[in-house]
Amino acid sequence: MNIILLGPPGAGKGTQASRLQAEHGMVQLSTGDMLRAAVKSGSPAGLKAKAVMEAGALVSDDIVSALIDEKLGTMRADQGAIFDGYPRTAPQAASLDQLLAAHGRTLDHVIELEVNEDALVERIVGRFSCAQCGTNYHDSFNRPKVDGVCDVCGGTEFKRRADDNAETVRTRMAEYRAKTAPILPIYEARHLVNRVDGMADIDHVTSAIEAILSNDA
Ligand code: AP5
Ligand code: MG
Ligand code: ZN
Repeated sequence: MNIILLGPPGAGKGTQASRLQAEHGMVQLSTGDMLRAAVKSGSPAGLKAKAVMEAGALVSDDIVSALIDEKLGTMRADQGAIFDGYPRTAPQAASLDQLLAAHGRTLDHVIELEVNEDALVERIVGRFSCAQCGTNYHDSFNRPKVDGVCDVCGGTEFKRRADDNAETVRTRMAEYRAKTAPILPIYEARHLVNRVDGMADIDHVTSAIEAILSNDA
């Protein structure tokens, strides 16, 4: 199964994708995570992406589609893909069609996380993750069971994203509205879109997504 998680910054794409990966053996393909890794490693793609990401703008379509192509090439045919944060523009949606065909895959669902934008700034400025394993947390909504200790790996160092500040979030949301939301009709015309209430608590959102996936199992 191959699915897209679509929604504005802070909608919960990464949170839900990592749960699906842990529970169902699907593979999370987050272009944001891939770009942050590229920035950290100082690769040519990372050097180009750094300032763009810090400003909250979109990195070029060619760079992100190449990252997705590379990752799909490493996956076994029986592993489902969860696209998290890709595609984000009409040209990326067209590239994804080509890449899926080239890798012998078809798209099963586009799951739109419907959220109230006013709540997203709070979600994003409160977000942090484990420096060792990357597990995501939130200051109020999703704290580690023991303060200062990662539930998953026991790590005690945490980090925050450079673009997680109130000002950059506004630019990221404007980019979503202008360039990403307009790709939904492409998938609506193919009857692939399912909507989930992304304002529900994290477990409820997971159950709602699982119900959609199990409907065609
Ligand atoms: P990316 O990393 O994709 O960031 P984003 O789209 O802005 O989305 P986020 O990761 O901020 O939000 P999320 O939906 O994953 O939410 P999360 O689950 O963490 O992209 C970053 C940048 O990279 C872009 O700005 C761009 O520059 C570049 N880029 C990436 N992909 C690109 C592409 N395809 N093309 C061009 N450029 C690209 O949840 C947020 C917080 O809320 C967490 O703390 C979580 O614990 C909490 N939370 C989650 N769900 C709930 C809930 N139901 N209730 C309460 N709290 C919740
Ligand atoms: Mg994310
Ligand atoms: Zn950890």
